[in-house]
Amino acid sequence: MLGVFDSGVGGLSVLRHLPEALPGVPLLYLADTAQVPYGPRPMAEVRAFSHAITRFLLDQGATEIVVACNTASAAALKSLRAAYPDVPFVGMEPAVRPAAEHTHSGVVGVLATPATFQGELFASVVERFARDVRVMRQTCPGLVEQIEAGRLDTPDTEALLRGWVEPMLAAGIDALVLGCTHYPFVIPLLERICGPGVRVIDPAPAVARQAARLWQGPTRDPDLHYFVTGDLGDFDTFRAQVGLPAATIAGLNWEDGALKARPRFAKISQLG
Ligand code: DGL
Repeated sequence: MLGVFDSGVGGLSVLRHLPEALPGVPLLYLADTAQVPYGPRPMAEVRAFSHAITRFLLDQGATEIVVACNTASAAALKSLRAAYPDVPFVGMEPAVRPAAEHTHSGVVGVLATPATFQGELFASVVERFARDVRVMRQTCPGLVEQIEAGRLDTPDTEALLRGWVEPMLAAGIDALVLGCTHYPFVIPLLERICGPGVRVIDPAPAVARQAARLWQGPTRDPDLHYFVTGDLGDFDTFRAQVGLPAATIAGLNWEDGALKARPRFAKISQLG
């Protein structure tokens, strides 16, 4: 099975490309919606979450892991690979390279979380691929929360995006990199704001192809299971809103830094 995780629903923007890239590969998706957003948290905390989630997914039978979260990739990819040298990991890195290759204006924009900009991974892609390009960085406080709430094309989300993107447009960007897996869900809105002269870059299809290249397990009936640490109904509402397939959703709780299956009727019996 291929395990995929994110702080919340963002990784679904990667998951939606996986069935085509890996037909017949069973998928496990874990959304840590009890702790979203990861972006403003200390790196060490995000690293600890990422290790616990990986442990859980491996225990469920995952044999490859897609870290479908730029923040978790920035915080933990290196240490995950060191901890599990036999497990293939695919991480997210901001798609600065295609942006640098595309630009004619010499100015590109990147939207990402503070943790992603702080990580070595971002510095290294800029250093390797965008030395001659002006890279404008912009964090988007509150955007992950808007997306988690399904507010994908609302006036308040548009106002937030305009506040961040219009100064970049004024500076001449012709490519905009989405450096957080939540952001592809506002691509229609971003494309409206940016107009046809700016290429909005979602790295998810390339990440799905990389996951397929590394896949060594068998293929069988396609299968999908969701695990959620927050509210199951909210997750399912978002899943339906963005057109992902319905599947079983299991609730998980964080207990002493590890993930445990939620006792099925705990809530109901506690109410009495
Ligand atoms: N989807 C995430 C990312 O790619 C995390 C956003 C967050 O939880 O702050 O960075």
